[in-house]
Amino acid sequence: MGNSGTLGKKAETFNYGVVRQFTIMTIFWGVVGMAVGVLIASQLIWPELNFNIPWLSYGRLRPVHTNTVIFAFGGTALFATSYYVVQRTCQARLFSDKLAAFTFWGWQLSLFLGFVTLPMGYTSTKEYAEYEWPIDILITLVWVAYAVVFFGTIAKRRVKHIYVANWFFGSYIVTIAVLHIFNNLALPVSLWKSYSAYAGVQDAMVQWWYGHNAVGFFLTTSFLGMMYYFVPKQADRPIYSYRLSIVHFWALAFTYMWAGPHHLHYTSLPDWTQALGMAFSLILLAPSWGGMINGIMTLSGAWYKLRTDPILKFLVTALSFYGMATFEGSMMSIRTVNALSHYTDWTVGHVHVGALGWVAMITFGSFYYMIPRLYGRTTMASMKMVDVHFWLATIGVVLYISSMWVAGVMQGLMWRATGDDGTLTYSFVESVKATYPLYTIRMIGGLFFLGGMCLMAWNTWKTIKGQVKVDPVIYLYNPDSTEPALVGPASPAAAASA
Ligand code: HEM
Ligand code: HEM
Repeated sequence: MGNSGTLGKKAETFNYGVVRQFTIMTIFWGVVGMAVGVLIASQLIWPELNFNIPWLSYGRLRPVHTNTVIFAFGGTALFATSYYVVQRTCQARLFSDKLAAFTFWGWQLSLFLGFVTLPMGYTSTKEYAEYEWPIDILITLVWVAYAVVFFGTIAKRRVKHIYVANWFFGSYIVTIAVLHIFNNLALPVSLWKSYSAYAGVQDAMVQWWYGHNAVGFFLTTSFLGMMYYFVPKQADRPIYSYRLSIVHFWALAFTYMWAGPHHLHYTSLPDWTQALGMAFSLILLAPSWGGMINGIMTLSGAWYKLRTDPILKFLVTALSFYGMATFEGSMMSIRTVNALSHYTDWTVGHVHVGALGWVAMITFGSFYYMIPRLYGRTTMASMKMVDVHFWLATIGVVLYISSMWVAGVMQGLMWRATGDDGTLTYSFVESVKATYPLYTIRMIGGLFFLGGMCLMAWNTWKTIKGQVKVDPVIYLYNPDSTEPALVGPASPAAAASA
């Protein structure tokens, strides 16, 4: 293969070596991050599972879970797919192999340092930005290198058009750089301790401007980049509407930036800011659904494939969950709805509709398309296993989110219930007790999801170890091969159909 030296010179047209490295690490971090998720879900039922060891306490493991699944699993998957897609659609090798290798090792080092220091109690305490300042600086360096590699590859492209998936990946790279730098501005007082540059309500506003756009650009825009490449490829159909993809891109990029204050309803943030956040969150529904519809409608005329193709099942189900998460999010940003949902497990349910249903599922589908091509195989070692994975993941998400919805609404209603004399009907402990059965269902859902992830690891291993079934030079590297086109022949972007 490209870097393994087993194929001829032509095979080195693209740098697939670094894509393969990121791919393997995505699967590794997926298993680890979800296992920690199952552990903390279990701790909420059986608190003694922290074994009285500070390192294993819930408060320390929760950020280990969130950072591992978002940045280690999700982020590493984004490196893999963006490097793959940008090379294919630009018909050009990555701008610099050395810098690409630096992004791999630097990113993995940051994740590893975070994975070790968070359980030790070193944290900036800002949600999804808990890593302390030395790790933040390393991430900044990696991110600059990532931008140079990605945009450098676009600059040296051999096709005129910049395919829309690259717009989505590009905007995520630029936006995350801005968010990361501004939210993490801090004064270090020792090697592992710093204080935020902001204070009070400004600190909260900057944090949730970051937090919401981390959702918008790290967990959404980037994964839409994945969607715009892998859905048409797997469906063997051009994108439903190229025009809609451009409108959807600009509308999404403009609207997301303003919605952050919906995380701070009924706080000391000025009322007008909260109203602005709510208004933009409602507007956000339109571009979000525009993107979902564009993806789903790409299957027009190919719906029958869903019966037999588990990869398409992953991709289309992911889009459906994306639609669900964005509809729910827009509703939860309405102040009166948020008055019920905030602080409850409804939020956690919403998060995992997006995280498991959208982010993880679109990743699984894209990886099952990409892995055989990276290793010169016609398919995954076992497509049956891909199908089993699909059902394990789907059952897992449904158990997770439905139990959290019930838990959340129940908690909200119990907390606000008052008797005739105005006293609270339920104590807090009663609401915790009532939630236990639902926590158990969530934990079982998590086990299903983790089981599917482990199956994917096994299937990938088998695929890598299996026999080479096709001539990788023709199959993988020939731009004139019979690979499906991304855009229709009438479109000016037809040239980009790598
Ligand atoms: C086996 C799968 C998973 C299980 C069992 C699981 C479980 C959990 C649990 C128990 C929490 C803490 C909830 C609380 O504090 O009340 C949590 C939080 C969270 N998880 Fe997961 N998780 C899983 C997968 C994922 C994935 C794949 C992602 C992202 C791609 C993710 C993102 C998050 C986020 C962002 C939070 C914080 C939610 C908030 O602050 O409201 N999880 N998860
Ligand atoms: C139109 C799109 C969306 C809107 C308007 C939206 C809105 C919201 C709202 C109102 C909350 C609750 C804030 C609170 O009460 O504290 C929330 C929480 C959250 N949402 Fe969304 N959401 C959207 C899409 C998504 C997607 C697709 C994902 C994941 C991929 C996601 C991940 C999260 C996370 C992680 C949180 C928890 C933040 C925290 O408190 O730690 N959202 N969202």
